[in-house]
Amino acid sequence: MTATDARTIPVDPVSADRLAAQGLTYRVIDTSSDADTEAFLRADARGFLDVDPSAESVQADREAIEVRRNIGVFEADAREGVWPVATVNSWTTPLTVPGGELEMWAISSVTVSGTHRRRGIARALLEGELRAASAAGTAIAGLTVSEATIYSRYGFASAVPVARVKVDTRKAGWVGPEQSGRVEYIDRETLRDDLIALHESERTARSGQIAGWDARWARMAGLHPAETAATAIRGVRYRDAEGTVQGAMAYKLTEIAGTFRSELAIRHVSALTPDALIALWRFALQHDLVDTVTADQRPVDDPITWLVADQRAVEFTVHDHGWLRILDVTAALQGRTYRAALDVVLQVGDPLGFAAGSWRLRVGADGATTVDAVGDADAPAQADVVELDVVALSALFAGGVSAARLRAAGRLRASADTAAALDDAFRTADAPVLGLWY
Ligand SMILES: CC(C)(COP(=O)(O)OP(=O)(O)OC[C@H]1O[C@@H](n2cnc3c(N)ncnc32)[C@H](O)[C@@H]1OP(=O)(O)O)[C@@H](O)C(=O)NCCC(=O)NCCS
Repeated sequence: MTATDARTIPVDPVSADRLAAQGLTYRVIDTSSDADTEAFLRADARGFLDVDPSAESVQADREAIEVRRNIGVFEADAREGVWPVATVNSWTTPLTVPGGELEMWAISSVTVSGTHRRRGIARALLEGELRAASAAGTAIAGLTVSEATIYSRYGFASAVPVARVKVDTRKAGWVGPEQSGRVEYIDRETLRDDLIALHESERTARSGQIAGWDARWARMAGLHPAETAATAIRGVRYRDAEGTVQGAMAYKLTEIAGTFRSELAIRHVSALTPDALIALWRFALQHDLVDTVTADQRPVDDPITWLVADQRAVEFTVHDHGWLRILDVTAALQGRTYRAALDVVLQVGDPLGFAAGSWRLRVGADGATTVDAVGDADAPAQADVVELDVVALSALFAGGVSAARLRAAGRLRASADTAAALDDAFRTADAPVLGLWY
């Protein structure tokens, strides 16, 4: 798969016209301009209510955004270096799907300044990204969200739910098995390097993951200038009996006021083997002077509940995290594998048009998959019909959301048997996960 360089895709003309009608200029930022790059990063930070980034922080983020298609919306008379009134950026990344990878159009940095809200700028940005992604031939778009009520109006679905975990270590106990390898402390540079390498291996194991980028792992390891508590971040890794690094964990200890005891917050854990994950959980749960261990972006089938003696010591909260939006039904559905044979007609509604239509999805007993657009007149009598919108289809896509559940919520219309057949085909053995924010 040759990756599309999103930076080569021009801004969407429809959104450019719509914003021009408000006297606004919509353009790709030239990252060779120091002033424009800094203005973009500072406007982005303001939009997310972050502190104004220092010069070192701008410098550290520069490398990460230079490989992205950064768009600013400006007042028409804005000179170089003037802050944009709205920002968005995008890039393409491999998205792990059952049986392989698909190119995904990742969208981030969606902000509209407080002075320009609620006049349709975010809609112009989001629709502009979807049209650009579609023009680039990308089958699916993705994002992570600060608020869960914004993006389904553009066809995005919470498709990769994850779990937030909180363990009361005073109650939990431990019943997990012994490991033959060992856990060791590592310095922050080694932690960063291990997280980079481990994520790159781990991300292909479960549907829903995307590629990371170096600046992100540096930040996780406490090596980014914006990381105020950098020196509180520590790292450990797990080596198996042969000495191979199979897992690493970045964590931070914070004292629980007035108790001389602490909370251990896991910032990120990557593990390539069950043993590595168990050993790292054990390290955290059995840490001296720690009452609480927290983690997030864990798969909903994380084994933690079964590693402790008292399951009531584990709070396990499932929440939305990875949001996906199918743009090309044929390419997306043919781009993954299925766990059972299937023959259905998907009647997909999509107000933005990209996925709208009737699509016959056939998966043979040998796994061979075809997707054909069918007219209403020639819908085959023998195939089961599923009526759903692009949000429900995108929710099903990664294998992390049940068709039976969507049917129970009235989000998908099909017989109970057809919904069960969809689940047999679409669901994955291991829960999908997305281990990072973007
Ligand atoms: C969220 C944000 C981008 C919206 O920008 P905006 O230009 O005011 O949004 P628009 O005027 O284009 O509104 C688009 C739609 O989203 C809705 N909307 C806007 N902000 C919303 C919010 N915070 N929650 C829920 N819906 C919201 C609008 O009602 C509108 O709905 P409609 O098209 O169905 O009528 C902006 O408020 C912002 O920058 N917030 C802080 C940063 C942030 O949270 N970014 C999102 C990152 S995931």
